[in-house]
Amino acid sequence: MTGAAAGRRYAILTYGCQMNERDSETLAGLVEAAGYREGQVEEADLVIFNTCSVRHSAENKVYGKLGELKALKRERPGLLIAFGGCMAQMADVRARLRRMGVVDIVFGTHNLHELPRLLAEAEAGPAGYTEAVWDQAGAVVEGLPARRRPGVGAFVNIMYGCNNFCSYCVVPYTRGRERSRHPQAVVEEVRGLVAAGVREVTLLGQNVNSYGRGLEPPVDFADLLAMVQGVDGLCRLRFTTSHPRDMSQRLLEAIRRLPAVCEHVHAPLQAGSDRVLQAMNRGYTRQQYFELVERMRETVPGVAVTSDLIVGFPGESDEDFADTLDAVQRIRFDGAFTFMYSPRAGTRAAAMPLQVPLAVKRERLAALNRVQYGIALAINQQLQGRQVEVLVEGPSRTNPERLTGRTRSNRIVVFEGPEHLTGTVVAVRVVRAQTFTLVGQLTAQEGGGPAPPLTSEAERKREYAT
Ligand code: SAH
Ligand code: SF4
Ligand code: F3S
Repeated sequence: MTGAAAGRRYAILTYGCQMNERDSETLAGLVEAAGYREGQVEEADLVIFNTCSVRHSAENKVYGKLGELKALKRERPGLLIAFGGCMAQMADVRARLRRMGVVDIVFGTHNLHELPRLLAEAEAGPAGYTEAVWDQAGAVVEGLPARRRPGVGAFVNIMYGCNNFCSYCVVPYTRGRERSRHPQAVVEEVRGLVAAGVREVTLLGQNVNSYGRGLEPPVDFADLLAMVQGVDGLCRLRFTTSHPRDMSQRLLEAIRRLPAVCEHVHAPLQAGSDRVLQAMNRGYTRQQYFELVERMRETVPGVAVTSDLIVGFPGESDEDFADTLDAVQRIRFDGAFTFMYSPRAGTRAAAMPLQVPLAVKRERLAALNRVQYGIALAINQQLQGRQVEVLVEGPSRTNPERLTGRTRSNRIVVFEGPEHLTGTVVAVRVVRAQTFTLVGQLTAQEGGGPAPPLTSEAERKREYAT
């Protein structure tokens, strides 16, 4: 199918989470199958926005960029602009897009497969506004082409949507109800990626712990990890996100037992005050979360626990916020993403009284970051002088003289070394700890060459399991 589009170029602008990064690979696959080739925005005949609406700031970035493209489109009226992702699911956003008159095609989060048709229509006719946005998300569409970004790691969706309705969050509205992919489809995708050279796979879902609900025959996330881990040649297996409420002991045992599964759990606490947790509809208390972390650390030796945290949820008092600081100090997260609460139209929290003023949110965010960054640095400093096992991802983007990679606990390590180590696991001695990265030195083998880890964590697990 290289008709009208032959020789045309596309560019994709991706915002938001890993789900969108993965969807952009599918979008690239779809438009390449329709005859487009990748290019820069400035020269493109088609620009695709893959957007995020989780916070106001994410939406603002998109509107800013749309403004720029409006100018570009005036110069080149043939330029097509397609708009997808979570913002496309919001009726108020679509109304605004129609008024702006910049966007030609809008497609929803489960309408990616309809893009080629919409594109063909837009190419054929005079540019106008068309949209395909789901109302009731249907079955998972399998088998779409994808242009995978080359790299050591890859994302694989295992489920779509979310049923949790945390009161602040727009995701259940933009991605619909939770639906799991069939385990065989996941395993096949991983097998294909590994055959193409991928070493590390991250399984994606808004709440991977509830994977499998509604599938026949019954399967849960621990089963899926075991199945994927069985793919020959897969070096590391990661997953995100885990809802603290649904963290079964069976899953923790699987993380401990399965050699490829990395010892890292991203289980967002969100807030440390019971009152706020309840208003957020999170389904656990701070005490239950403390006990969970204890259980994780007991069951999975060396596990890294990371979190998302929100400050300034409606009604959050100074005492509530102090509870968050206190929880963070007690738990000592290996890392955390911290956010100011952002009201999202249509969510329950947006209509709650006692919205917290921006200045207070800013102060709280700064205070929380001071505490959390101090903890992350202190934990990293404990690694100074120690040897860590690093899967090399390639030259560092900020300093191409250096290589970058990650420990099994998901810490970024930068160190000097030859590029051909990309995709291998090497031993690195940590020489300096920073808040977000470790600076290391390759451990040399006798007779030259970098040393692989002596007894790697994966091997230790294998011994443990047998
Ligand atoms: N399903 C995942 C990811 C959700 S979005 C999870 O539950 O963890 C990622 C993070 O964005 C959330 O964990 C939350 O901390 C934050 N977030 C979501 N909605 C938000 C809002 N309205 N304002 C500020 N932060 C928000
Ligand atoms: Fe949003 Fe909560 Fe679902 Fe995460 S679990 S996507 S925060 S509703
Ligand atoms: Fe954003 Fe949608 Fe992901 S709102 S965080 S792109 S699920």
